[in-house]
Amino acid sequence: MDDTPSHLPASLPALRQRAREAGFIMSSEDRTGSLLAALAASHPGGRILELGTGLGAGTAWLLDGMDRDAALITVELDPVVQAVGRELLGADRRVTFVTEDGGAWLERYDGAPFDLVFADTWPGKFTHLDEALALVAPGGIYLIDDLLPQPGRPEDHARSVRRLLAELDRREDFRCVRLDWSSGLLMAVRTG
Ligand SMILES: C[S@@+](CC[C@H](N)C(=O)[O-])C[C@H]1O[C@@H](n2cnc3c(N)ncnc32)[C@H](O)[C@@H]1O
Repeated sequence: MDDTPSHLPASLPALRQRAREAGFIMSSEDRTGSLLAALAASHPGGRILELGTGLGAGTAWLLDGMDRDAALITVELDPVVQAVGRELLGADRRVTFVTEDGGAWLERYDGAPFDLVFADTWPGKFTHLDEALALVAPGGIYLIDDLLPQPGRPEDHARSVRRLLAELDRREDFRCVRLDWSSGLLMAVRTG
C-alpha cells in the first residue's frame, strides 16, 4: 500500500520552500500531517491545540482538516521560526498564534479543554505532560510524534521516549495506541 497522502494543504509548498531556505528540518512529515488533518476533521467545531508551531507545517495540515467552526491555538517559543507560519497562515481566522514558552503557557492556561492536542515540542511531552493531558476533553485525543530516532534531537532522546511511553502506559484515564509509522507516533484518547 502506498501511504503517501494524495492531497496536500495549498500552503504546504511555500512552507516547505521556506523550511529549505531556513535549514529547518523539524517539520512534520506528510503522513503525520495527513493524520493530523483526519483527526482535526473528526471533531467538527473542535478546539485544537498545537505545542511547537515550528514553521507551520503541522498548523497547515490541522487547518486543512478543520471545518469552518473549529479553532486552533498554536504555541511556539521562537518568534523567528513562528513568523513564517504567521505570514503564510495568519489570515485564517481559525488560528491563533501564541509566541511563548509552551511550559509557561500550559501552567497559565485556564480556559476550555481541547478535542485534539498535538504536543510537538518538549513541554506537553517530555515536560509538563500532566498539564497537557489535563487539557484533553473526554473523548479527545492527545497525539505525539518523533518517537523514533530523529535528526537534530538530543542524544538522550531514546531514553526520554522510553520514560514517556512508560508514563503514558500507567495512565488509566487514557487509551493509547502506538504507531510504528511515519516518525513514530502515539495517540491517546481520554476515556474518563
Ligand atoms: C518539531 S518542531 C515543531 C514542528 C511543527 N509542529 C510541525 O508540525 O511542523 C518543535 C518546535 O518546538 C519549538 N520549541 C522548542 N522549545 C519550546 C518551548 N519550550 N516552548 C514552545 N516551543 C518550543 C522549536 O522552536 C520548534 O520550532
